[in-house]
Amino acid sequence: MSMMSIRAATIKDREAIRLVEEHAFGQQAEAGLVDALVASGDSVLELVAEEDGQVVGHVLFSRLYVETNGHRHPAVALAPLAVEPSFHGTGIGGALVREAHLRLKQAGETLSIVLGEPAYYGRFGYSHARASAFQSDYQCEALQAQAWGEAPESGKLVYAPAFTSELAA
Ligand SMILES: CC(C)(COP(=O)(O)OP(=O)(O)OC[C@H]1O[C@@H](n2cnc3c(N)ncnc32)[C@H](O)[C@@H]1OP(=O)(O)O)[C@@H](O)C(=O)NCCC(=O)NCCS
Repeated sequence: MSMMSIRAATIKDREAIRLVEEHAFGQQAEAGLVDALVASGDSVLELVAEEDGQVVGHVLFSRLYVETNGHRHPAVALAPLAVEPSFHGTGIGGALVREAHLRLKQAGETLSIVLGEPAYYGRFGYSHARASAFQSDYQCEALQAQAWGEAPESGKLVYAPAFTSELAA
């Protein structure tokens, strides 16, 4: 019987993570984003899912700030999330997000932001309603948030620089 396990990513996983990202998205942009976020020190949490010792899923949360009246509230941005296509629909993506949320809450994080499909991310507690007052270049229905503690309702979302340099193309 196959066994799925989730653990923190290590330096040895870099190539496997790159492949999962490329296979899931069918392009290299997200794999490049992951490498850039890690290299710049903006990665807050990175988990991998393994099936029988093979990395088949990956999620990264990076540092994001909400700027309000001269204050910077630290938050996290969920991106990217990737599962090897042959394993889609087996619960790996959900398991990665849920485990990451537990760890982030334990670490004292209070706000998480995602830009993605509401029908998918809604099941993990994200909503556009919680994100609708934020000022962002990505402001739209797909911009969602969830708070685990006291966190700003409005303000400007400032993503790690890698989002501009790697996804601008
Ligand atoms: C999105 C993704 C990570 C989901 O991983 P997964 O392991 O297949 O997800 P799970 O098995 O935990 O959940 C499957 C459920 O999510 C739903 N789902 C998957 N992608 C979805 C999407 N884009 N929109 C709405 N629902 C989606 C499935 O329909 C399924 O629904 P069900 O539980 O009602 O049957 C995976 O499909 C993937 O890697 N996609 C390509 C990369 C991507 O789009 N990443 C997310 C954007 S950053």
